[in-house]
Amino acid sequence: MPQMDAVAAPNTVDWSMITVDGVTKTYGAFLAVDDVSFTCRPGQVTGFLGPNGAGKSTTMRIMVGLTPASRGRVTIGGHRYPDLPNPGRHVGVLLDASAQHAGRTGREVLTIGAVTMGLSMSRVDEMLELVSLSQSEAKRRVKNYSLGMRQRLGIAHALLGDPAILILDEPANGLDPAGIHWMRGLLREYAEHGGTVCLSSHLLHEVERIADELILIGHGRIVAQGTKQELLHARGAYVRAVEREELLDALHREGITAVPSGDGLRSDAEAIQIGRVAATNNITLVELRPADSAGLEELFLELTADSQRDTTSVAVPTEGAVI
Ligand SMILES: Nc1ncnc2c1ncn2[C@@H]1O[C@H](COP(=O)(O)OP(=O)(O)OP(=O)(O)O)[C@@H](O)[C@H]1O
Ligand SMILES: [Mg+2]
Repeated sequence: MPQMDAVAAPNTVDWSMITVDGVTKTYGAFLAVDDVSFTCRPGQVTGFLGPNGAGKSTTMRIMVGLTPASRGRVTIGGHRYPDLPNPGRHVGVLLDASAQHAGRTGREVLTIGAVTMGLSMSRVDEMLELVSLSQSEAKRRVKNYSLGMRQRLGIAHALLGDPAILILDEPANGLDPAGIHWMRGLLREYAEHGGTVCLSSHLLHEVERIADELILIGHGRIVAQGTKQELLHARGAYVRAVEREELLDALHREGITAVPSGDGLRSDAEAIQIGRVAATNNITLVELRPADSAGLEELFLELTADSQRDTTSVAVPTEGAVI
């Protein structure tokens, strides 16, 4: 990854850290992003998660100077993105994979990027290979690309300048399961080599499997943030019983709070406490486990409950979950 030579790295700020500080965006009277603050650190994948319309894309556009913030600021290594002299060498950006010039071929898109950033042409072939776009596909015009191919080209473009930071808005959109699996591996490896990754998604399972840090956003506001472990910590247990209502009553009698969740109950109590109550009351359990990955799903639905469009269903798209 390149060192920033033209912009001196400040001593106090890691030069590949993104700091979003009190960012607010209003469109007329509408508040699209409301006082959002978070950081994305090197060596970590930060997942920006929220339902449709939560404000993810708007925040990311503000991060790279495409949309002006109404209040607050974003700095990258202490600098505003527009002040970076050769931003593509420092920050790889994929905001809208369909935004490429439709009449250009994939190869032309990457070649123009390489020329603009002062890179050797061999980098174009390296990136095509990396994202598995064949030489013949690279000769086709972008308008004839499938969504997944556009996404691969967008990822190739973001990585072209060997940046230390990646800002990717819904990078898994349009990728097939094998493509999502590939991208996850690519981004994990990138972070393990010290890169900073900020990616957004409205699909919980996708983010959950790749991110170290999670930022949950709903209605423009951050509703929770922390490491995956922190967000899951003390989330208790998930239990399914044949006699669900009896279990609920028995738990309440013991002073243990539990709420219906899907077919079962979710409680802040530990699995062992719930198991004991069930045993004492001769209740048949079908499932009892610490609220792990599924707990995050419950947390996501709970935290964004008033941001969800479909309040009648707790189903979350599971693409990515099966990989
Ligand atoms: N230029 C604009 N003018 C007015 N409202 C806008 C504009 N851009 C975004 N918004 C509104 O801001 C809110 C947040 O939009 P944004 O695109 O950031 O959501 P998102 O979290 O990226 O959603 P999705 O998951 O659907 O991509 C939405 O209500 C949207 O309609
Ligand atoms: Mg968006």
